[in-house]
Amino acid sequence: MTQAASGGFYESSWLKIQWLQVVSQIVHVFTAVTLIGVPFVVRYVVIPNADDATTADIVEGFYSVWPLIVAVVLFSTGLLNFLFANSGSGNSFIGSFLTQFGITVLLKMALLVVIDVISILLGMNEDFQADAEMWLLVLMTIGIVALILGSTLHRGGISLEKSS
Ligand code: HEM
Repeated sequence: MTQAASGGFYESSWLKIQWLQVVSQIVHVFTAVTLIGVPFVVRYVVIPNADDATTADIVEGFYSVWPLIVAVVLFSTGLLNFLFANSGSGNSFIGSFLTQFGITVLLKMALLVVIDVISILLGMNEDFQADAEMWLLVLMTIGIVALILGSTLHRGGISLEKSS
């Protein structure tokens, strides 16, 4: 499953660019916050305080384009984070998905697909809009599960060692 540390996919020099790693991690977390925050705000702030718009109108308005943008950004920054995390590991590309870290990431990809399918249906389908409050809760819950999985993947952080 692994290959020699030299010359493998994870030896590419661009995977060592620190600023790119930081930007990708920040954008990933920011987008994750949006993914979970929007259904929360719609469910507990917008819907209870809407005077003349129906719940269906509200979710239709919110769930149009942004879930797709969020999915693309989360997926691409997540994949980048995964590549960065494996940099110098000596793993092959396929082999890196067959580790605990890789399987967790595959699980997160699957959760993102489920989140996006529900989000798209909320924007288009009257049956989903009729049960919008329940589906918003489902979206939040799946998002939080993905966030907890994400936190277990956390890598790097601030060094505890004295710099010389
Ligand atoms: C489903 C929605 C998702 C949410 C809510 C989410 C959330 C998070 C959070 C909060 C972290 C912790 C960041 C940190 O502490 O540094 C994280 C890390 C990570 N996520 Fe996601 N994520 C999602 C989807 C994805 C997807 C689709 C992928 C892969 C394509 C992915 C790959 C990763 C990786 C590899 C890390 C570890 C970053 C590191 O190296 O520290 N995530 N995610």
